[in-house]
Amino acid sequence: MYKRQGESRAADYRNRLADRGIDTDISGTDNASAAAGSRIVVAGVPPAYAADTIEAVRDDLTEEAIVVSPAVAMARNGTGFHYDTPEAGSVAEAVAAVTPDEVPIVSAFQNLAAGALTDLDRELALDVVVSGDDADAKGVVVELAEEIDGLRALDAGPLANSAEIESITPLLINLAMNNDGMHDLGVRFQ
Ligand SMILES: NC(=O)c1ccc[n+]([C@@H]2O[C@H](COP(=O)([O-])OP(=O)(O)OC[C@H]3O[C@@H](n4cnc5c(N)ncnc54)[C@H](OP(=O)(O)O)[C@@H]3O)[C@@H](O)[C@H]2O)c1
Repeated sequence: MYKRQGESRAADYRNRLADRGIDTDISGTDNASAAAGSRIVVAGVPPAYAADTIEAVRDDLTEEAIVVSPAVAMARNGTGFHYDTPEAGSVAEAVAAVTPDEVPIVSAFQNLAAGALTDLDRELALDVVVSGDDADAKGVVVELAEEIDGLRALDAGPLANSAEIESITPLLINLAMNNDGMHDLGVRFQ
């Protein structure tokens, strides 16, 4: 079932890009097969399941794999959204705790709104803040982010600094909720 869901989601993306004259080889499958065939494995699932999802595929990760954690743990109460600090300190560190030692983790993309990224007509001028303990792996993710027009990647230091990156996102949502005309906000540091 999951393989079919992955295939069908990939077909949607392929078709959407084909409508704009862009041919791609985006493909989808189940998590274990995707992990086994990938250099970059993004734990793009709700924060509470990020560590479990990576743990479930840990034996499928290749020697070259880099795990990327974009998840943000948030709770909402009467005043707005708040960072909901995981026991490990951040979601990225929770993911790192279940990932094989030889596989580097990079924390990135938490402050990019899906609405901004999926609006293919929108001109982006946004930062992707990256943290991690493996300089080479961070470099790969920086390059990947900067392949997207309008994105600049900034290094925030080791993975232990991920909570500070993750906790920017509830602020962005609170700003969007409280200010007319603002939605899908991101950050640009100057
Ligand atoms: N959306 C944003 O603007 C944004 C911005 C920055 C960071 N993020 C972070 O990126 C991550 C993904 O966000 P999203 O908006 O794409 O979330 P989402 O739509 O809620 O979920 C993404 C995927 O997670 C899978 N999933 C749901 N429950 C799961 C579970 N229990 N175990 C394993 N996989 C599960 C879903 O699979 P199925 O399709 O099979 O249900 C779906 O494909 C989140 O951690 C979020 O904090 C999101």
